[in-house]
Amino acid sequence: MITPAEIRDCKAQGRRISALTAYDYPMGRLLDESGVDLILVGDSLGMVVLGYPDTTSVTMDDMLHHTRAVARGVSRALLVADLPIGSYDTPGAAVDNARRLVGVGARAVKLEGGVTVQAQVEAITAAGIPFVGHIGMLPQSVREEGGYKVKGRSDAEAQALLADARALESAGACAVVLEIVTPKTARLITAEVGIPTVGIGSGPDCDGQILVTYDLIGLFPWFQPKFVSPKAQVAVSIREAVAAYVEQTRSGAAGG
Ligand code: KIV
Repeated sequence: MITPAEIRDCKAQGRRISALTAYDYPMGRLLDESGVDLILVGDSLGMVVLGYPDTTSVTMDDMLHHTRAVARGVSRALLVADLPIGSYDTPGAAVDNARRLVGVGARAVKLEGGVTVQAQVEAITAAGIPFVGHIGMLPQSVREEGGYKVKGRSDAEAQALLADARALESAGACAVVLEIVTPKTARLITAEVGIPTVGIGSGPDCDGQILVTYDLIGLFPWFQPKFVSPKAQVAVSIREAVAAYVEQTRSGAAGG
């Protein structure tokens, strides 16, 4: 079983962290059996599983339901669950909701933000709950931001992101996700902080990489981020299999 300390120590050992998302039992089990280091029950489930336009409608009940299912299939990887929007407005709420996720099988939690949520992160780690940070493009703020925008382009933005990463490190995070940060700024943060950076759309120089699994395997064909090169086309296979079944059923060849 991979521990939060082992994830943190990957950086010193020069071992890159592989991370992917899962939202249900079969995917959690398949990823775990395939050797991924960290499995995230991401609030991206709002889009790729629940059909919302973004993550801002995801609730604690959604996260508890999906984390419980994934946990049944994961025995080796570090299982991390997202705290959804509105669940960590105060340090007390952050700890209560982090405990609820741990209660259904998460072994660490993640929330979005840096300096502005340092008190929440300190409260979570003080309660003995391992924590993963998330800075850069913050999907829970997409409505205020007016879209998914690349972060860290200017020096001022790069320095603010570095301050966020340092705040999370000093609050006890075991790793930090960098989402859609320029490769140059991701490289700077990776060089300057002692905890591993896990990039998504942030270039090759992070200490690890994370993707939404549905993007990696081509299971959500209606939107494909530019930075992902799918390794499979599962939606195509499903459509072909279903079309063959429909055809066989209509012709009377199915059912034998
Ligand atoms: O919700 C999610 O899937 C995430 C990853 C994109 C890092 O936060």
